[in-house]
Amino acid sequence: MLLILNTLFVQTTSSLRCHFDRQCICYNIIEVQYVNCSKINITTIPILPSTTNILNLNFNLIVLISNGSFKNLKHLLELDLSWNKLKRLELGSFTGLSNLQKLKLEHNNLSLKWKSFPLGVFGPLKSLRHLNAKYNDRDGFLACTNVITNLKQLEKLEIDVDESPDCPNIDKGFSNLTNLKSFRTGYCDFTYLSSYTFENMKYLQFIDISRCSISEVHDGSFQDQKQLKVLNISHINFDIYDISTIVENFRSTPIQKLIMTRTLRDTVSLAWDDFFNCLKQSGIKELQMGGNSFVYVIVKYPLPPTLEIFDLSYNNLNKFQFEMPNLMQLKLQNNGLGKFLASNRYSKQSSKRLEYVDLSFNVIHKLHFTIFHDHPKLKTINLSYNILTDISFDFSTLRSLEMLNLSHNKILAFSEESRNAISNIAKSSSLKIDLSKNNLQCGCNTFPFIQWMLENRYIFIGIDTYRCNWMNNSVITIFPLRPIVLQLEKECTSYTVLIACITSGIALSCVVLVGGLAYRYRWRLRYVYHMTRSKYKRYRPILDEGHYTYDAFISYSDEEQEFLLKDIIPNLEQKENLKLCIHQRDFLPGEDITQNITNAIHESKKTVCIITRSFLDSYYCMFEFNMARMESIYSRGGQNILFLIFLEQIRPSELPLVMLELVQKQSYIEYPNDEQGNVVFWDKIKETLIT
Ligand SMILES: *[C@@H]1O[C@H](CO)[C@@H](O)[C@H](O)[C@H]1NC(C)=O
Ligand SMILES: *[C@@H]1O[C@H](CO)[C@@H](O)[C@H](O)[C@H]1NC(C)=O
Ligand SMILES: *[C@@H]1O[C@H](CO)[C@@H](O)[C@H](O)[C@H]1NC(C)=O
Ligand SMILES: *[C@@H]1O[C@H](CO)[C@@H](O)[C@H](O)[C@H]1NC(C)=O
Ligand SMILES: *[C@@H]1O[C@H](CO)[C@@H](O)[C@H](O)[C@H]1NC(C)=O
Ligand SMILES: *[C@@H]1O[C@H](CO)[C@@H](O)[C@H](O)[C@H]1NC(C)=O
Ligand SMILES: *[C@@H]1O[C@H](CO)[C@@H](O)[C@H](O)[C@H]1NC(C)=O
Ligand SMILES: *[C@@H]1O[C@H](CO)[C@@H](O)[C@H](O)[C@H]1NC(C)=O
Ligand SMILES: *[C@@H]1O[C@H](CO)[C@@H](O)[C@H](O)[C@H]1NC(C)=O
Repeated sequence: MLLILNTLFVQTTSSLRCHFDRQCICYNIIEVQYVNCSKINITTIPILPSTTNILNLNFNLIVLISNGSFKNLKHLLELDLSWNKLKRLELGSFTGLSNLQKLKLEHNNLSLKWKSFPLGVFGPLKSLRHLNAKYNDRDGFLACTNVITNLKQLEKLEIDVDESPDCPNIDKGFSNLTNLKSFRTGYCDFTYLSSYTFENMKYLQFIDISRCSISEVHDGSFQDQKQLKVLNISHINFDIYDISTIVENFRSTPIQKLIMTRTLRDTVSLAWDDFFNCLKQSGIKELQMGGNSFVYVIVKYPLPPTLEIFDLSYNNLNKFQFEMPNLMQLKLQNNGLGKFLASNRYSKQSSKRLEYVDLSFNVIHKLHFTIFHDHPKLKTINLSYNILTDISFDFSTLRSLEMLNLSHNKILAFSEESRNAISNIAKSSSLKIDLSKNNLQCGCNTFPFIQWMLENRYIFIGIDTYRCNWMNNSVITIFPLRPIVLQLEKECTSYTVLIACITSGIALSCVVLVGGLAYRYRWRLRYVYHMTRSKYKRYRPILDEGHYTYDAFISYSDEEQEFLLKDIIPNLEQKENLKLCIHQRDFLPGEDITQNITNAIHESKKTVCIITRSFLDSYYCMFEFNMARMESIYSRGGQNILFLIFLEQIRPSELPLVMLELVQKQSYIEYPNDEQGNVVFWDKIKETLIT
């Protein structure tokens, strides 16, 4: 099989070999006869068929073109002799080439120094439109001789230039070349760039003087180029003043495309407002300003309304913001805009015609949410080679988006919002996304993303090369997606159940713990609650330390009302002049009962509890008892303010633990219920309450 293919190939190619020299290749495309004798180390020009139209002799070792070498090639249209060793042309070298339109002599050794160009050597080339003779002569003599003055048809000239004292104006001989539209330099050295430089080339539309060494720029160098469309001044070591001087010309001269790539090596800023002011009337459409050292470009005024393409790639930009009313392409790759664009937009207002934005290689970790808002025509966004981990920006408004290049980032997965936005756009446009070389995760937490990817796999370019981190940390290829989704589904259901169990387990223990704590500190909590409430709710006179409204708060169950009225009030209040707080009498009507209790306890020096079985059973009595306990602990520095009177015999086992503790501390007295004992009883109580 291989053998057959091989012989076939040899046959087809061998049939192309030219009969006059089997190293050359001859072929015919739509009546045009091509002869290609490139790179075969020939030193002389072969005898060629007179039907040849396009002849390629480049990359050979030809030194001399002798008289009459091409004299029978009257149908030749293009001749490429570039990259040879040409040192001499004879007067009759181009005899017969009356139809030649394009002649390339680039990269040879032709120089007037060794009289390479006899005067009139180009004479026979009556139809020549395009002459490329650049990279021959560092002294650039050809440009200032009469050798090419009669090439009236010439439209495009590429030539070496050296504005030396021997040749003051490069274009001395160009005044008859009224058809010349394009001028490009090879070796190039200008002492001055001035209004004389292009004086005689008034019809130029294209000027490329890139890589020239230019010592001085004078005013008005381009002011008479009323046809100018493109100016290439790349790779020149200009300073800002040179640029200002050049751009100043475009107040009166039209220009559509200005190329100044690596023109300003060490300049960090330009007078941007002036710069764009000069270009406002010029009709400028494209600005290439890459590879300079601009750091900061924020301008008050909008970009020129005609500007469509703006290239500021390969600078050091850390800030960039413009109003760009009609811009269509913005190229900002290879800058340092990451930090700025995290919280700012690059466009100040709506960019209604913007179609293409390149922000690759910018160390972007996050983009401002609204960065692409008001870009109704945006088709391509290149965010490759950044450090994005998700899509933080809103692109739900980008109805025309066709290409979102997110390759070489650190994206783990898309959030649900991003997924919905993408699905929505993809419905109405042919959106494609490049997600190659990211940190995609194939795990349970990204399962919805992987599943969504399967459903939308046609959106992703080169999806068969994507890789993701599997749950066990090994990296797998993501394609085909379906088995991955199935396996994730299997592994993650158990995982989901496990997560659910653990979560509810944790929640349950939290409830139990909080409940337990609340129960343990229930009295303290209630006390703090009521104290805080009373502080905010009621006006209370600030009591001096140790001064209380009441001497004692009597806590009793309603069944002991008789004992209260017949014994306590007469004995303590009437006889001893003590001030008691009795709930029936002293509580503020309208106030919450629990609040009243807390206030009463707080405003009384002591709290006396009349303990009976019904006291122990009463909710409010026990509330009063416990609140008094809390008061003694939290407001009275641990001083005991509780005093218990046992009206009935109660077994210790019937008492709550905290009450038993008080009994053990002797803070209680039993009611004797006989004449003599009562006297002692009331004395004891009085003593307790007064101290
Ligand atoms: C001519 O041949 C050279 C070398 O074989 C090749 O590189 C070049 O592409 C060919 N050019 C044309 C126009 O066929
Ligand atoms: C031409 O010469 C160079 C250098 O001597 C050699 O490398 C190359 O192979 C030669 N090409 C042909 C087609 O003979
Ligand atoms: C070139 O050759 C032609 C005849 O083939 C002759 O008439 C002419 O003088 C020669 N010119 C030079 C410069 O040798
Ligand atoms: C051009 O010709 C000169 C003089 O013969 C020679 O010194 C020089 O090396 C040649 N240059 C090239 C690039 O062949
Ligand atoms: C331009 O052409 C005219 C008429 O053909 C001629 O007189 C004049 O010398 C030419 N100028 C140059 C610089 O060759
Ligand atoms: C401008 O000049 C640079 C450097 O010579 C070159 O690489 C680029 O292709 C030129 N651009 C145009 C549009 O001619
Ligand atoms: C950015 O992405 C676009 C579209 O995918 C591509 O055409 C362009 O070459 C990329 N730019 C760079 C600098 O890689
Ligand atoms: C995305 O950008 C990268 C790097 O700039 C490039 O290599 C790739 O071709 C682009 N993808 C597409 C689909 O254009
Ligand atoms: C991780 O899981 C994949 C897929 O189940 C398996 O092919 C691979 O061998 C595992 N790697 C390790 C290190 O366990």
